[in-house]
Amino acid sequence: MKLEVKNISKTYSNGFRALTNFSIDIETGVLGLLGPNGAGKSTLMRILSTISTMTEGQVLLNDIDITQNPNYVRGMLGYLPQSFGVYPNLTAEEFLRYIATLKGLEKSEINTRVDELLTLVNLQDSKDRAVGGFSGGMKQRVGIAQALLNDPKLLIVDEPTVGLDPEERARFRNLIAELSGDRIVILSTHIVSDVEATASDIAVINAGENVTTTSPEDLLKSVTGKVHETVVQQDGFADIREKYIVSSMIRRSDGIHVRIVTDEAPDNSKTVIPSLEDAYLYTIETHRSNHV
Ligand SMILES: Nc1ncnc2c1ncn2[C@@H]1O[C@H](COP(=O)(O)OP(=O)(O)OP(=O)(O)O)[C@@H](O)[C@H]1O
Ligand SMILES: [Mg+2]
Repeated sequence: MKLEVKNISKTYSNGFRALTNFSIDIETGVLGLLGPNGAGKSTLMRILSTISTMTEGQVLLNDIDITQNPNYVRGMLGYLPQSFGVYPNLTAEEFLRYIATLKGLEKSEINTRVDELLTLVNLQDSKDRAVGGFSGGMKQRVGIAQALLNDPKLLIVDEPTVGLDPEERARFRNLIAELSGDRIVILSTHIVSDVEATASDIAVINAGENVTTTSPEDLLKSVTGKVHETVVQQDGFADIREKYIVSSMIRRSDGIHVRIVTDEAPDNSKTVIPSLEDAYLYTIETHRSNHV
């Protein structure tokens, strides 16, 4: 499997440019698409899913142009949109059977496949309840199940873990890790820990541009020696936040423990072991400051 995104741009009808000259080569494995709100993640995913089209550039899936041959993509695609609508009156099982039929699954395989997926997303006990009465996290799990029905070779999931509780989030991470084989998985999120363990590559997207595509290890290396912790009192905090990229803060009895990412450490700080979250923030902030 090979997906080549070549210099694509997208300008919406109101003139807003959501993607600029975006390129990426995606191979078998899990790609984590990380970026802040409005970065262009969903725009890119909709284009790759052939729901939307780019205004410039080209996308090739296994050397086949997806604009000219959208059905080639659709035949192997599983897609979970960011806002996933369900038919409220159908039960979870009915809904999945319905989507399975639309996706052209054989009658003989529908029963087993729907049953397997209900188990996979932990909804067996609720399968006879109407989806309209489900919680946000349960609906999201129905969404994940429908994207997997046809055992897709290209799985595109847009913020799949939104609304999931920590237990279900962990379950989802394991599920993605188990989806090995000759498959491309593209997963967008702004929660770095969602992709930390599973992604073979990470693409950081900001303001419609591909800031960097790299392995989690190399992204982490980019902030070696740059993450520091310092303790400040309330009145000193504003100053720190003004000067540095603050990755986290914790209030303790001796003051506010602030974790910052910077090339030049302030006095009275100690260097700490970087996390992928630090590296992500640093990458985004560096890109932002080069843009104004
Ligand atoms: N149909 C549209 N018409 C005009 N502008 C749009 C449209 N859809 C999205 N945009 C704009 O394009 C930009 C990128 O949006 P997109 O939904 O791709 O971002 P995102 O990275 O998915 O953000 P989020 O993390 O909030 O989901 C935003 O500024 C958004 O307002
Ligand atoms: Mg989005």
